[in-house]
Amino acid sequence: MFKFDFGIEDDNTEATQPETILQSEPFVELSLSQLIESLPPLISYSPLPIRLSSGRKNITLARRDLFDARFQLISEGRGDEPEIPGSTSALGFLDAPSDLVPGVYEGGLKTWECSLDLVDYLDGLEDSNAAYVSGKRILEVGCGTAIPSVYLLYRIFCGDSNAATHVHLQDYNASVLELITFPNIILAWYMSPSSAEYRASIADTEGPPTDPTVSGELPITPSLKSAFTASVAKHGISLAFSSGSWESLKTHLESRGGALYDIVLTSETIYRIEALPILIELLHRACADSDSLCLVAAKVLYFGVGGGFSEFLAALESKAMADRGCSGTAESVWERKVGVGRKIMRVSWV
Ligand SMILES: C[S@@+](CC[C@H](N)C(=O)[O-])C[C@H]1O[C@@H](n2cnc3c(N)ncnc32)[C@H](O)[C@@H]1O
Repeated sequence: MFKFDFGIEDDNTEATQPETILQSEPFVELSLSQLIESLPPLISYSPLPIRLSSGRKNITLARRDLFDARFQLISEGRGDEPEIPGSTSALGFLDAPSDLVPGVYEGGLKTWECSLDLVDYLDGLEDSNAAYVSGKRILEVGCGTAIPSVYLLYRIFCGDSNAATHVHLQDYNASVLELITFPNIILAWYMSPSSAEYRASIADTEGPPTDPTVSGELPITPSLKSAFTASVAKHGISLAFSSGSWESLKTHLESRGGALYDIVLTSETIYRIEALPILIELLHRACADSDSLCLVAAKVLYFGVGGGFSEFLAALESKAMADRGCSGTAESVWERKVGVGRKIMRVSWV
């Protein structure tokens, strides 16, 4: 049985799934309209406070409740559907969001703490709302609840930019993108000034206050869906979602010529040593050029599994990576030494 816990929540239910071999899940694109249609009539959320060291006011994002995603699956009669043939259903993962089942479920339902570090670091780069992200092409690899991208989108929704910004969110599991990642983006929009026109068009009782510091329930109506879609277009945002393994995403990017993104983010994805070469190759293929901002946030060491920054750096600088044309170096740009050390490293390609 495979299990470890390195997150920020208390939901450490014992895993019951047997270990499976990491398999190559195909690249599957989920369209925005598909994700909008899959939203339930109501989503409940709770505050996710994020401490910022920039001196700016700490930020709180609204995050969809896992129990609500669980309720959705049960009420839609999808409770027993395995996402990957022969594996556990998404409901099984929702009951044990901390547990990783290699090749089946990779922990994306839960928010891992280094994703909050990434928000802190990204916040420090900003001089005004979204100034450095709007107009960029952004990829978050192994996004899970996608808090860094949700934060960047929230900043764009708070500003008045309409420069074409592309955000691609990737997770191993399609159910994570549908049940948590996308609802979190809807919540970020609703909590921002961009939803003002929509809120003015509905009765007070139809929508919760735009205060992410208190838990609430957001009714998902046809008019909310239309207002969200219009707002996304007005801000020049295009959203892409894909599930599948890193191997399949890399192949997909190569088929499109690679070098597609100005900002490539990933958090808590370097825990498994044998997955490091493919992750590094993917990051390399994704970066548009040497100016791309490629950030890896992680624990210094993942006890019990062996991954961490020294293994990542060894792989990044290895001859094997050089032979594949993906050699790189990394410098630490953010660090927390208290408890289990955490870092953010900026990767440069050589
Ligand atoms: C521990 S979770 C971290 C989630 C999120 N980045 C965070 O920090 O909260 C690891 C993430 O990496 C993705 N992942 C891990 N191994 C993968 C693989 N071989 N192919 C594709 N995705 C993978 C999973 O989908 C999962 O969302």
